[in-house]
Amino acid sequence: CGIVGILGAGPVADQIVEALKRLEYRGYDSAGIATLEGDGALDRRRAPGKLKNLEVRLSNAPLRGAIGIGHTRWATHGKPNETNAHPHASERVAIVHNGIIENFRELRDELAAQGHVFATETDSEVVAHLVTAELDAGKAPKDAVAAALPRLHGAFALAFLFAGEPDLLIGARRGAPLAMGYGDGEMYLGSDGLALAPFTDEVSYLEEGDWMVLTRHSVEFYDESDRRVSRPKQKSLASAFLVDKGNYRHFMAKEIHEQPEVVGRTVAHYTDLSAGRVALPFELPFDPAKLDRITIVACGTAYIAGLTAKYWFERIARVAVDIDVASEFRYREPPMSRDGVTIVISQSGETADTLASLRYAKAQGQKIVGVVNVGSSTMARESDVQALTLAGPEIGVASTKAFTCQLAVLACLALAFARARGELTVEAEARYVAEFLALPGLMAEALKHERDIEAVAHDLARARDVLYLGRGTAFPLALEGALKLKELSYIHAEGYAAGELKHGPIALVDEDLPVIVIAPPDGVFEKTVSNMQEVAARGGRIVLIGGAGGAEAASLKLHASIVMPAMAPTFAAIVYALPVQLLAYHTAVFMGKDADQPRNLAKSVTVE
Ligand code: G6P
Repeated sequence: CGIVGILGAGPVADQIVEALKRLEYRGYDSAGIATLEGDGALDRRRAPGKLKNLEVRLSNAPLRGAIGIGHTRWATHGKPNETNAHPHASERVAIVHNGIIENFRELRDELAAQGHVFATETDSEVVAHLVTAELDAGKAPKDAVAAALPRLHGAFALAFLFAGEPDLLIGARRGAPLAMGYGDGEMYLGSDGLALAPFTDEVSYLEEGDWMVLTRHSVEFYDESDRRVSRPKQKSLASAFLVDKGNYRHFMAKEIHEQPEVVGRTVAHYTDLSAGRVALPFELPFDPAKLDRITIVACGTAYIAGLTAKYWFERIARVAVDIDVASEFRYREPPMSRDGVTIVISQSGETADTLASLRYAKAQGQKIVGVVNVGSSTMARESDVQALTLAGPEIGVASTKAFTCQLAVLACLALAFARARGELTVEAEARYVAEFLALPGLMAEALKHERDIEAVAHDLARARDVLYLGRGTAFPLALEGALKLKELSYIHAEGYAAGELKHGPIALVDEDLPVIVIAPPDGVFEKTVSNMQEVAARGGRIVLIGGAGGAEAASLKLHASIVMPAMAPTFAAIVYALPVQLLAYHTAVFMGKDADQPRNLAKSVTVE
C-alpha cells in the first residue's frame, strides 16, 4: 500500500490524488482520501479498483479541505471493496496504514468489548479505534498516538488525521517506509520521496520505530522510546526523474526500450571502460579472496537475477553461491559464517521478506551487499555496501529495466570478486569488459525484432499453457519468461531447466503447447537442441529465441524463431532478457490486459 498526507495552503484533494498516482505501484486494489471539511469534521471518499475510480467519485462529490490523508491499497485482510478501503475512521480520527497489524484480533475483541463498532474486515481499522479510545480517555492527539503505537504488533507506516485539528498530522514508521517533505507553508508525508516529488525535493526519512508530529510550519521527530530526535533534511533525487510514459502506450514498453541506455549507464558506473577493467564505485569491507561461499537472497524477478548471477560467481569467480527466495530464507534459520557475505537484490529496497533476510544475515555477522535501485530505501541504508542499479524509477509493476541493471551490477561484482581471487587474467578481464561495452548496442539490436515478437505473442495469446526451457544462464531466463507471461497475461506458464524436461513436464507436450526455448549459441546449445528434438518428436510448437543459424543448427521444424544478434555467450542473458519481456508484454496487450498494473499484484510488497 502507499500512504500520503498533506497540510496544504488550500484544498489538498488534487495534490493527494497526484501523490497517490506516484504510489500506485504499491497497490491499486482500492483508493481513498479523508480531509477535514469546513467545520473541522472528517469526511472521506473511497472507491474500489484503480485510482481513476476515486477521481470520478471526487469529481462528483468534491472534498475541499486544506488538510488530508490518502491511501492506495494492496489488499491483505478483507476484499478490495469500498468498505475495506482506507482511510478508516471514527468520528474523531482517520488513519491510513501500510503493513499488517498482527495482533488486530486481540485488539479488536478488547475494543469491541468496550463498545467500539467495527465496520470492516481489515486489520487496519483497529488502529483508528485504538487511538479513538485514547482520545476518549481525555488524551491530546499526540499523547493518544504515543499510547497506541506500542500496543501494535507487526509492520506499519501510518498517518493520522484528527477531527477539529486543522494544523496537525501524525505519522509513524515501523517496518514500512515513511518520508516527510518540507514545503513553503505546507508539509507533506508519504511512503517515499517519489510521491512527494511534485511538491518538494527537501525530505527527511523516518528511521525504524520513529514517529512524527507535523504542522504547516514545524516537524517534531520522536524515536521508539518517545525521545525527541533530529532526522537530517536531504535533497530527494526523485524529482529529477520525469515519471512520464513519453510516446509509449505503457510504462512497461517505455522501460523495456530504455534498457540499452540504463544498462549502459550502470555498466559505465562499475567499470573503467578505457582501461578494460572493472572499477567498483565503493570499497569492499571484506576480502573476496577469503570467501568460500556467498549467499544471495531476493524475491520475484530480483531472485531470478540472483539465480543468473550464481552461474557467473561460480564459473568466473570460483566461489560457491547459496541462493534462496527471501520468504523461505528468513524462516529457515540457515547457519551462516561470521565473516561471510550476503547479497540482497531488490528494485524497491523495501520488500518485507528481503529486508527481514538482510537483517537476519546481518545478525549472523555477515557483511551485506545491497543491489538496490532506490538509493534512499531501507535496504540501501542497512547494507554495508550500496551497489546501486542506475535504472531510474521503474513504474511498470513487472520488473524489466531494474532486472537487466541488476544483472549488469552482479556481472561486475562477479568479475571484481574473480580478480581479487586470482581467477581472472588481465586479458580475460579486458575481454569481459569489452563485452559489457557492447551490451547497449546489442540490446538496441534485439529490440528491432519487436515485430517478429509481436507475431509470436498473438499466437501465445490463444494458448492455455506455455512452457519455457533453457540451460545455463538461459534457465533463469526461462523462469523469468514464465513469470512475466503469468503475471501479465494470466496464461499459465512454467519455466524449466531444459534437461529436466524429460523428468516431468514432457508429459504436457502436445500439438497445442507452445514451447519457448531460449538458447543462445553457448557451450550447452547442443544439449538444448537434443531437448528440442524431444519436444518436436511429440508435436510441440517450438519457438526458438536464439542466434542466427540456430534453427538450421537445430535442423528442426520450428513454429517460429526470434533471432538475436551474434554475441559472446557469457553475459548473453542481459540481451536475451529483452525478447522474453517483449513476448509477455505483447501477449498481454493483445489480450487487452493492463500491462502496467496486472490484477492482484503490487510493485513494492512491504508485507510478508
Ligand atoms: C513484486 C513485483 C516484482 C518484483 C518483486 C520483488 O512482486 O511485482 O516485479 O520482482 O516484487 O521486488 P523488489 O522491489 O524487491 O525487487
